[in-house]
Amino acid sequence: MRVDLLSELEKNPFVLAPMAGITDCAFRNMMRRLGCGVVVTELVSATGIEYASRKTHQLMEFTDEQRPVGIQLFGEDPEIVGRAAKVVEDRGADFVDLNFGCPVPKVVKKGAGSAILRDLQAVAEMFRGVRAATSLPVTVKIRTGWDESSRNAVEVARIAYEEGLTWVAIHGRTRAAGYSGLADWDFIADVKAKSKIPILGNGDIVTAEMAVRRLRETGVDGVLIGRGCLKNPWIFRQALGILREGQAPEVERDFGGLFAQLKSELHRVAEDRVVMLQIKKFAAWYSSGYPGASNFRRTIFQVESLEDTMRTVAEYFDGIRELIQADTSSEAFLMGGHG
Ligand SMILES: Cc1cc2nc3c(=O)[nH]c(=O)nc-3n(C[C@H](O)[C@H](O)[C@H](O)COP(=O)(O)O)c2cc1C
Repeated sequence: MRVDLLSELEKNPFVLAPMAGITDCAFRNMMRRLGCGVVVTELVSATGIEYASRKTHQLMEFTDEQRPVGIQLFGEDPEIVGRAAKVVEDRGADFVDLNFGCPVPKVVKKGAGSAILRDLQAVAEMFRGVRAATSLPVTVKIRTGWDESSRNAVEVARIAYEEGLTWVAIHGRTRAAGYSGLADWDFIADVKAKSKIPILGNGDIVTAEMAVRRLRETGVDGVLIGRGCLKNPWIFRQALGILREGQAPEVERDFGGLFAQLKSELHRVAEDRVVMLQIKKFAAWYSSGYPGASNFRRTIFQVESLEDTMRTVAEYFDGIRELIQADTSSEAFLMGGHG
């Protein structure tokens, strides 16, 4: 059945931002249980879909629990991306999300990702091509523009509206800025004020309070949270609580339950070694701002078996459960990605 994405946003405007190598099927399942709204896969190459590689198909996997779930595509040729959109539809996903934000040279050099933003004609052709190829809702995730002198998100949003897209999500930095500086939420608010199409804002949301404040102050229809949920996995539940009840619910910081869930989700698709690596990565992120975090990180990356990893994780997180997490937002944290 066709999902009404906008009413989903009204129910829960806090969307999980796609992060390649992180927001995989296992992680999305977990975050849905932890209260996030709509989810979307990491970027998938439309050309890769043509070649039907196993890896590409794995990236597109999702479960019913995740719905509404979108598959994010990138590519430079509207015909190829259109055909990929049809594959997305045939796989039963709820919507197609286009990646117009990826700043990575390998992607940009071919004219895909954020490179499309330099050519509004190409923007229109991509939207039209994909809309014609699928009856699913189509959304797009963009940067504010290619660089400081060409911030054209207002124009891109207008074209998206004219071509019948469902929303435009904006990471509030230019492609040239990469991950430096701060996301420009005043600019996002301005695009929202000038646009007829629903706008989602994104960038640097690290607390639930900030998520709600951004939503209210800018009038956007939703906010995407990426790196913030790697430091605080309960951020979505807390944000929804503040929005609906005026205060964040008491969350029991049950790290034990969280890691057990992550491990069993990951085990469905991966062998021990991969599960161990993922658990170590998440443990390092989740420890941000807690006492003894840097020691813990050093220790965890030296452990060699999954069993020992789980034990070391349990020991550390049991000890910090009641402690206050310090604000680490001024420290560099994952300063690169595909959007
Ligand atoms: C490791 C990493 C991978 C990312 N991969 C994607 C991606 O596949 N597609 C995409 O649109 N954005 C991707 N992004 C960008 C995020 O969705 C988001 O726009 C960005 O991190 C800013 O939001 P945040 O400050 O809430 O993290 C990625 C970001 C990171 C850090």
